[in-house]
Amino acid sequence: MSRSPRQIHLAAHFPGVNSTTVWTDPASGSQIDFAAFEYFARTAERGLFDYVFLAEGLRLREHKGRVHELDVLGRPNTLAVLAALTAVTDHVGLVGTLSTTFNEPYELARQLASLDHLSGGRAGWNAVTSSDAFHGANFRRGGFLAHADRYERAKEFAALSKKLWDSWDEGEALPRRIRHSGPQFDVDARFDVPRSPQGRPVIVQAGDSADGRDFGAEHAEVIFSLHQDFDAARVFYDDVKGRLAAWGREEDSLKILPGATFVIGDTAAEAHERSREIALQQVRPEQALTYLEQVWGRDLSGYDPDGPLPDVEPDTGAETARGWANRHAAVQARIASLRELSEAEGLSVRELVIRLTAKHTFVGTPEFIAGEIDRYVQERATDGFTVVGHLTPHGLDEFATRVVPLLQERGSYRDSYDEGATLRDLLGLPAAVPAGAAVAQ
Ligand SMILES: Cc1cc2nc3c(=O)[nH]c(=O)nc-3n(C[C@H](O)[C@H](O)[C@H](O)COP(=O)(O)O)c2cc1C
Repeated sequence: MSRSPRQIHLAAHFPGVNSTTVWTDPASGSQIDFAAFEYFARTAERGLFDYVFLAEGLRLREHKGRVHELDVLGRPNTLAVLAALTAVTDHVGLVGTLSTTFNEPYELARQLASLDHLSGGRAGWNAVTSSDAFHGANFRRGGFLAHADRYERAKEFAALSKKLWDSWDEGEALPRRIRHSGPQFDVDARFDVPRSPQGRPVIVQAGDSADGRDFGAEHAEVIFSLHQDFDAARVFYDDVKGRLAAWGREEDSLKILPGATFVIGDTAAEAHERSREIALQQVRPEQALTYLEQVWGRDLSGYDPDGPLPDVEPDTGAETARGWANRHAAVQARIASLRELSEAEGLSVRELVIRLTAKHTFVGTPEFIAGEIDRYVQERATDGFTVVGHLTPHGLDEFATRVVPLLQERGSYRDSYDEGATLRDLLGLPAAVPAGAAVAQ
């Protein structure tokens, strides 16, 4: 008797502020109008996805001191969008990116618990630490925290959130009082949102350093990773899953869903041709130079995007738009590796940036793409993918229509949602065990 295949998990990333999204395409819609979010979430639900996923940035993108229009300008508040989506969807999970650096645990925990109630157990939280230095200036604290401090704060944030969520014991009319005193937070609280359908929202994590992976191994139930090439994905999978035992966790209590782009064609040749056209839309000449200016920390507008890399040194004293601040050695090393790659392969500025930011993960016929996704999951390189289309809000249409049925035929993807399934159920995660019930330390 053959064993049933491992089940594929899919998340749907609403395309937004990133180089993947093409805003110049006439088919692009709004990233503000609720109709766009509704359309997207309904498509994800049609494709039986585990969840809809929103990224978040807390400041408009700036470049050379000015708000820049190379990508989209502005987006609505994540929790407001997800709350509205609860009313127009029935099954799909709703996961928002919300920073541990720029929020307070009590307030965020009650917002997320509320979303879990409103959605009937479909809420999730992508707990990011926000690397963008510029975000800090929008907050009273100002500036930004050093990398290690951000993860210290994230760990205490997540642990305190869990205590608050767990403070309504099963069957008790009143919550326990939570007294927490730590380096980051002093809270003396009775949590005002009763225990939610999932007990706790599902915690997602995105961050790649050793600190980030440790945070993920301790607290996350899904990791949104960057590692999409098969070999790199498998190395990451083994690394992170290997960290779980230290926290008394099983392999299946954490799912790894790397971001993946896709381009579908009726033939392989057609798909590759489309992929090339989309890459050229994603990285226009001015975007290629902007990318380099953010690495070099200086004005490179005199350089030809179709020519070789600039021969000047970086200005490592300058603060750059993305907050890669003042790390002289790191910037030098990054530039050296970019030079090496472009020289080895004879890449112009634009071709190099296409290689770095617009190399599509899966390009081919629907059969090819379904086969690849299944292979990654069966061979334990991933538990599925966070699928990112290049158009808003129609980026998922073709995937839902043409790839999903083939995954179902393979027996590795659901045919329907179970009635009343929570996000935790969809992901095949264990129930959230209240802190009080945990093994005594
Ligand atoms: C795939 C991925 C997606 C991320 N998305 C966001 C985001 O939407 N908003 C945000 O503020 N930070 C985001 N981050 C930043 C991380 O939370 C973290 O601050 C950053 O990656 C630095 O941590 P690291 O060195 O552990 O990677 C993302 C990081 C990764 C790797």
